[in-house]
Amino acid sequence: MKVALAYSGGLDTTVSIKWLQEKYNAEVITVTVDVGQEEDFGEIEEKALKSGAVKHFFIDAKKKFAEEYVAKCIKANGLYEDAYPLSSALSRPLIAEEVAKIALKEGCDAVAHGCTGKGNDQIRFDVTFSAKAPGLKIIAPVREWNMSRDQEIDYALKHGLPVNPKKSRFSIDENLWGRSIEAGELEDPWVEPPIEAFKYLKPLDEAPNHPQEIIIEFEKGVPTSIDGVEMPLEELIMELNKIGGLHGFGYIDHIEDRVVGLKSREVYEAPAALLLIFAHMDLEKMVLNKRVLDFKRVIEHKWAEMVYSGLWVDPLMNALNAFIEETQKEVTGEVRIKLYKGSARIIGRRAEKPLYNPEMITYTSKSVFDQKAGEAFSKLWGLPSVMHYVHRR
Ligand code: ARG
Repeated sequence: MKVALAYSGGLDTTVSIKWLQEKYNAEVITVTVDVGQEEDFGEIEEKALKSGAVKHFFIDAKKKFAEEYVAKCIKANGLYEDAYPLSSALSRPLIAEEVAKIALKEGCDAVAHGCTGKGNDQIRFDVTFSAKAPGLKIIAPVREWNMSRDQEIDYALKHGLPVNPKKSRFSIDENLWGRSIEAGELEDPWVEPPIEAFKYLKPLDEAPNHPQEIIIEFEKGVPTSIDGVEMPLEELIMELNKIGGLHGFGYIDHIEDRVVGLKSREVYEAPAALLLIFAHMDLEKMVLNKRVLDFKRVIEHKWAEMVYSGLWVDPLMNALNAFIEETQKEVTGEVRIKLYKGSARIIGRRAEKPLYNPEMITYTSKSVFDQKAGEAFSKLWGLPSVMHYVHRR
C-alpha cells in the first residue's frame, strides 16, 4: 500500500510515518505545505526521510493561501464565535487538496493526516480528502493508535526517530494568518498563557512606550498597502504580524465550541488577522448601506461556521462568497490605526466612494439636510409603538 501523508514535521506526523509502515506495511510519501509557518523546510524533509518516508514533497502555497483563502476571510470579516479568525481552519482544505493531488499523481491507495479524533482538523482533512481524492482510503493514525504524548515519545525513541521531546509543551499550529496554541497548562482556563507561548506578541511592559500609527489601504475589500507601500498580500500579512506583535496586539483567548461538541480553551496570536478584519469592517461602514451591512453580518456568521466546520468544498460556500464579493465593489479606501500596548485604535478612515456625506451630516449652517422632513418622519416611524403605548396601557 502507498500512502500520502500530510507532514508537518511535528511529533504526531513523524511517529505516523513509522506507524504506517508497521501497521499497514505502507510506503509513505510525505507532503509538507508551506502556508507561512516559517519553519526550516530543509530540516523537515530530512526528518521525513530519516523517519522512513520513501519520497518527500514540499509545496510553497503561501501566495495561494493568501489570495484564495485569506482574502475571502477578510472580505467576510471571518471570526468564529466573534473571536477566532479561522487561521488553522482555513489552511486545512488547502493542505488537504495539495496532498490529495500528489496522492493521485503518485498512484497512492490512501491519504493520511495526523489529526486527533477530538478536534476539528480531522473533519476538515477528511471532508476535503473525500471530495478531492474520492475512493482513496483515509488513515488517521492518531485516531487509531491511542497513545499519549509520552507514549509517542517512547515509540519515537525506541524506533530511532529524530524527534525533540523537549521542543515545546504546547501544541502549535501556525500559518501566516495566525498561530494556535494549545495544551500544557493552557488546559486550565483560569491560567494566564505564559509569554513564552507566543512568537509575535511582546509582553505589554516591553512594548514600545510610544504609539505607532499605520495606514492600511484596501482595494475592493483586499488590503494592498501599509503606509503607502504596496506589497503582495502574503507579505503584507507577515509585516502586520510583526508590527502588531511588537505592540503586544493580536492576543486571543476564548472558550471555543468545537464541531464535535467539546468546549475548549483556545489561545491564538493573530496580529495581522485582527488588524485587517477590524480595519476592513470599519471601512465597510463608510461605504455599505445599512441594509447591506446588517444582512452581511448574517452571511458572515454562516461563512465562519462553514469554514470552521470543515465545509470549504460545500456549494453553499460558493453562494456565500458570491454574495460577499458583490458587496466589496466599493470597499476601497484607507484606515488609520494607532497601536499602543496591546491595543489598536481605529482613529480615521476615508473611502473612494463613501456613503458618508459631510454635507448632510454637518452641524454647521452648510447642511443640506431638510430638517423639516424630520417631523413627519418621526410621527410615522413611531406610530405602531405609540399606538400600543397610548391605547393599551
Ligand atoms: N481550535 C482551532 C481550530 O479548530 C485550532 C486548531 C489547532 N490545531 C492544532 N493542531 N493545534 O481551528
